[in-house]
Amino acid sequence: MQIANTLEVLRSAVDGLRTGGRRLALVPTMGALHEGHLTLVREARRHADAVAVSIFVNPKQFGPGEDLDAYPRTFEEDCRLLEAEGVELLWAPVPVAMYPDGFATNVSVAGVSDGLCGAARPGHFDGVATVVCKLFNQVRPDTALFGEKDWQQLAVIRRMARDLDLMQPHAGAILGVPTVRESDGLALSSRNRYLSPEQRAQAAALPMAMREAIAAVEGGSAVAPTLAALEAHLLQAGFDSVDYAELADAASLEPLDTLGADPARLLVAARIGGTRLIDNMAVG
Ligand code: PAF
Repeated sequence: MQIANTLEVLRSAVDGLRTGGRRLALVPTMGALHEGHLTLVREARRHADAVAVSIFVNPKQFGPGEDLDAYPRTFEEDCRLLEAEGVELLWAPVPVAMYPDGFATNVSVAGVSDGLCGAARPGHFDGVATVVCKLFNQVRPDTALFGEKDWQQLAVIRRMARDLDLMQPHAGAILGVPTVRESDGLALSSRNRYLSPEQRAQAAALPMAMREAIAAVEGGSAVAPTLAALEAHLLQAGFDSVDYAELADAASLEPLDTLGADPARLLVAARIGGTRLIDNMAVG
């Protein structure tokens, strides 16, 4: 695996990988890799001749008081895991390669960025869109893969790529990959490492409460009281607060108060101790 830390090295590595019209897939990450990321890498391999992974803990997507400094950094272990997957290229930019002095540009995607995590974490999706836009321009992938666990992030990136003509428009240009879960249903996340054993056990209430709420709504229960019961379930199970629990249109993320014909999604963000967990599931 080639490791590039500067744009010069990256460009020549990318040129080499793309010779002869070979297709390149990109899996953007912030490191602290787990089975969810490795699933993205394996899926990437099915859609391209070569796979590039980026690792960059993007300061622009963390707000004041968030976990930028504490965010787990496990670079050597990450490299070992990626080598074992046969990844051809790791793009691990030094911060100045991503944000040189005087960097002044912001990519902001209106609408899909506004509610849910966008409301709870002001500026977060501008930071995501800005760095992903740069990653697409730097690596020039044919396909990029993202986990469906960050459903709103995926919607923001799809809209940005469409609006700014960032990728060649084809069906698999931006692929969402289903969430990988622990045996008790908890979605894999780098932030699960923050949980104490007791909090980890309590966290299993999140997917459980979501599944109950989905069954209720699909069975005809009214949405608002079902979401209120979901929140109560989480607080009872040991969560400290619930940022949001919403039923939304799966594509536009507009909140729904009834289940219609279009695909819908239940999206939840809740805090346990200092850790904020998010999850989402299809409804209907
Ligand atoms: O999902 C993530 O890990 C990050 O938000 C991403 C897409 C790599 C951008 O920093």
